[in-house]
Amino acid sequence: MHDCVIVCSGATFDVISARSHAGDIETFALDGCGGVGVAGDVPAAAASVFRLYLPLCLHAGKFAVGHLGQSLDGRIATSNGASKYVTGPGDILHIHRMRALFDAIIVGAGTVAHDDPRLTARLCEGDNPVRVVIYIERTLHENFQLFQDEAAPTLLFCAADTMNGATRHGAAELVGIGRCAEGLSVRAVRGALSARGYPRHFIEGGGITVSRFLAAGCLDRLQVTVSPLIIGSGRPAITLPEVASLADGLRPKTRRFDLGDDVMFECIFDA
Ligand SMILES: NC(=O)c1ccc[n+]([C@@H]2O[C@H](COP(=O)([O-])OP(=O)(O)OC[C@H]3O[C@@H](n4cnc5c(N)ncnc54)[C@H](OP(=O)(O)O)[C@@H]3O)[C@@H](O)[C@H]2O)c1
Repeated sequence: MHDCVIVCSGATFDVISARSHAGDIETFALDGCGGVGVAGDVPAAAASVFRLYLPLCLHAGKFAVGHLGQSLDGRIATSNGASKYVTGPGDILHIHRMRALFDAIIVGAGTVAHDDPRLTARLCEGDNPVRVVIYIERTLHENFQLFQDEAAPTLLFCAADTMNGATRHGAAELVGIGRCAEGLSVRAVRGALSARGYPRHFIEGGGITVSRFLAAGCLDRLQVTVSPLIIGSGRPAITLPEVASLADGLRPKTRRFDLGDDVMFECIFDA
């Protein structure tokens, strides 16, 4: 294991040390939009891992990254909810690494209902994050794996007026918050998680949930992995209120990564 030095321009610190499992590491300099430039003779595998993950690790405090894996035509699942797998093994490994790097992983009720996911970081080293489900009415069955397996602390955010004195949903803890125009305020969800000591959030889907975080200005970054697949119908990735002009669309700075046959675009809103 070797030390490496990261020079951060305009960040809260000038120089930090980090370690790599990958071998010899040289110098990495953060560019203006939070990317990592690699200087020196660095093994390619180590360089690509550091380029992707170091900027995400350097954010102390509140930080939120959304992720969706979509087809070329912008679908994350078929109309009946089948999504295994839109993207390939490179993106799946990336998702598990992201889980291990964040305090809390957030999904919507549709993802639990269709995928019955475990939301653990089992394909890489690292701790499982706290698992968070947003579901206003709390009518999801308690038998879904993440409400039963106790693999990590699990929180179900619901409308406070649906709790009727209940504090648990299976093995998950119920967290009631007030209703708002969008259902439950994603800003309030983020605030409640931060107050519990979980400031770094990975929003893993589905499209409705990630879109709500984006619309509320609650994402620092959005990772969209595009697979060379055309579904032609199905559940959409990002959906935002209509705009009349392309000038009103979002054109964030991006970083781009090859993940096997897929390409991931990371949109940077925190630059
Ligand atoms: N390819 C990928 O990256 C990916 C990732 C995850 C999931 N998926 C697939 O995507 C599909 C599910 O995605 P989806 O977009 O249909 O649904 P989703 O985002 O998983 O869940 C949406 C539902 O969660 C609840 N919810 C989320 N945010 C809320 C808020 N702020 N306030 C109140 N309720 C909130 C709402 O439930 P109610 O409307 O019932 O109140 C909402 O309809 C599944 O087929 C899954 O397999 C794909």
